[in-house]
Amino acid sequence: TKAEAWSALFSEPMSDLVKRYTSSVFFDKRMWQADIQGSLAHAEMLSAQKIIGTDDFASIQKGMAQITSEIEAGSFEWKLDLEDVHLNIEARLTALVGDAGKRLHTGRSRNDQVATDVRLWLRGEIDLIEGLLKELQLSLVEVAAKNVDVILPGFTHLQVAQPVSFGHHMLAYVEMFKRDAERMLDVRKRVNVLPLGSAALAGTTYPLDRERVAKTLGMVNDQGEACVSQNSLDGVSDRDFAIEFTAAASLCMVHVSRLSEELIIWMSQNFGFIKIADRFTTGSSIMPQKKNPDVPELARGKTGRVVGHLMGLITLMKGQPLAYNKDNQEDKEPLFDTVDTLKDTLRIFAEMIGGQLNPATGTKEGGITVNAENMRAAALKGYATATDLADYLVKKGLPFRDAHETVAHAVKLATMKGVDLTELPLAELQAFNPNIEADVFEALSLEGSLNARNTLGGTAPAQVRIQLAKHQARLA
Ligand code: ARG
Repeated sequence: TKAEAWSALFSEPMSDLVKRYTSSVFFDKRMWQADIQGSLAHAEMLSAQKIIGTDDFASIQKGMAQITSEIEAGSFEWKLDLEDVHLNIEARLTALVGDAGKRLHTGRSRNDQVATDVRLWLRGEIDLIEGLLKELQLSLVEVAAKNVDVILPGFTHLQVAQPVSFGHHMLAYVEMFKRDAERMLDVRKRVNVLPLGSAALAGTTYPLDRERVAKTLGMVNDQGEACVSQNSLDGVSDRDFAIEFTAAASLCMVHVSRLSEELIIWMSQNFGFIKIADRFTTGSSIMPQKKNPDVPELARGKTGRVVGHLMGLITLMKGQPLAYNKDNQEDKEPLFDTVDTLKDTLRIFAEMIGGQLNPATGTKEGGITVNAENMRAAALKGYATATDLADYLVKKGLPFRDAHETVAHAVKLATMKGVDLTELPLAELQAFNPNIEADVFEALSLEGSLNARNTLGGTAPAQVRIQLAKHQARLA
């Protein structure tokens, strides 16, 4: 039973309610691989340092191999009584190999063990997330490449502002997810640090070689130097790496949520800019005509859940005295759910936007469908090129503020007549300013407007193609 795991000191067994309340095995068992990996690295070092015998290490390896196959086969019996993943595996090891199993915990505490496990586990998940972020960026880049010359209205305040390239719009999200990937890599550096060897809180009396363990576990920096926590109290107790990860995940979800909001708006009948494949939509049980954008809506909703986990974790840390406190067991569910939610969301978005690879043709199919006509029609509404008329007048020598005022009058007239600026006869335009000539109509066209914004980062197709090439090379 669990009481046997620590001592004979306890005069009565733990109550069932407390057992359930304190047990974490049914969620922390997902870290079993990291737990075994950490234990093997620790045991290898113990034997190299002659703290345990080489025969003990061999038995531990054998036992862990057996446990690995039992867990993989689903035959491992996880026991609530044994509280967590660490005690479950250690107890099974001892049942399998006897005294060698009992020697594994020499110079170690569950406090540095769990901190190590969470870090190892999270490091692996960050690597998967990096891959998924790349997939999503590739999907967006592919859609961008096909739509550089497709024009839609750009909005500010969700009011028509200026025409932009749809490719440019897609690449804005590529920039966001690129930064998210960079943030993840940066967090990874601080995740990939070894607390093992801190023991319960003060370090240990055994001559441990912590750097050796770090190297075995791949906890090294770019120069190949071991990354080992430098203060035992800090090593066992801080979870700032998990908070930082959840913050990076929250930002990433916020970006997904913004994209979701746009997809939802663009899909509505009033816009009709895009369609997403049927397999990402659902119908209505009452309205037969409906196809609802459930996936982007859920992603927008799940963003709240991940941001909630960030609040949960950061509040969990607040007010904890040094060193380890059981509060920290509460780090796992929010962290795990953050990882699950983010990974599922990125995976589904990469496919929803870019489509699925058809192995027969080698191309992707079933991504978003773009309705270029509807986008163009929308860009022609709302005087999206009014700024271009002002810029035209400035080039004819008018100060910008005066040009702005002149164009406001022209827009007012056009609005009264219910026409676009380009539909006003040249003579009427010239009444606002005699310098206006026939070339104004080119400047006021959607293409003219885009092409004129040919500065670094601008929406001119020439600029968008430069950015596209950079992203394609980076992601190749
Ligand atoms: N399950 C525990 C956790 O997640 C492991 C560490 C327990 N340490 C202790 N002293 N009770 O934090």
